[in-house]
Amino acid sequence: MSAAPNTPEHIAIIMDGNGRWAKERGLPRRNGHRAGAESVREAVETCKELGVKYLTLYAFSSENWSRPQSEVDALMVLLDRFLAEKTPELNRQNVRLHTIGNISRLPAKNQKRITKAKEETAQNTDLNLILALSYGAREEITDAVKRIAEQVEGGNLTSDRITKEILSQNLDTAAFPDPDLLVRTSGELRLSNFLLWQLSYAEIVVTKKYWPDFKRADLQAAVEEYSRRHRRFGGL
Ligand code: FPP
Repeated sequence: MSAAPNTPEHIAIIMDGNGRWAKERGLPRRNGHRAGAESVREAVETCKELGVKYLTLYAFSSENWSRPQSEVDALMVLLDRFLAEKTPELNRQNVRLHTIGNISRLPAKNQKRITKAKEETAQNTDLNLILALSYGAREEITDAVKRIAEQVEGGNLTSDRITKEILSQNLDTAAFPDPDLLVRTSGELRLSNFLLWQLSYAEIVVTKKYWPDFKRADLQAAVEEYSRRHRRFGGL
C-alpha cells in the first residue's frame, strides 16, 4: 500500500530486552530471542501495512560475539531457521532481504543461507528488510575511511574532493536512505554503536517494552509519534 503523509520511509530498530523478557519468566535467554523472532515477523508485516520502504533491524552487533558461546550459537541457529522458514513468506509479501555488517565472521552455514535468501528475494520491491549482522558503526566507518584512502592512494580521488556524500557512498548502507525514525525497546537510552553516521537526523522513540512484547500496535504508536514531530534538520 502507499504510505500516509508523514510516514517514515525508513525505520531502524534496536531490538533490546530479549534476555530480560526471558529472565522475568524464569526461562533461558534463548527463549527470549525465539520470542523476539516472532516480533521481527510482526514488525515486517506492520511496515508493509504502513507503506514503510526500509526496515533496518539490529540483529547481532560486533560486540555480541563476546557473549557466551552457547548464546551466540543459539542466535545463529535462530537466524538460520528464521531465513529458512520465512524466505517464502518474504517473497509472498514482496520483501527484499539485505544485510549490513561483517557477514564473513558468521558461520559458513549462515553465510550460505543469507546469500540464498538475498538471491531469492532480489526481485522484490515493496519493503527492504535490512538485517544488521556482526555490525558495528565504528567498524563500518573505519572500513569506509580505508576504502576512501585506497582511492586516494590509487590516484582516483584527491583529499579536497572527499565529501559527506563520498563517505556515505562507502558505508554498508550506500544503497539506502538514512533512517527517519529510530525505535529502541526496553527503555535504554543508548545508540550502542548502531548506524552512528546515518542516524544524525533521525527522530528517536524509546519504549519501555521488551522486544518480544513489541507488537503491531506498538510500532504503529511509534510511527504516530514520529508523524506528529516537526523535523527541522538543524534549520528553523
Ligand atoms: C537484544 O536483547 C537482542 C539481541 C542481541 C538479538 C536480537 C535477536 C532477535 C530479535 C531474534 C533473532 C533475529 C532475527 C532477525 C531472526 P538482549 O539479549 O541484549 O536482552 P537483554 O538486554 O535483556 O539482556
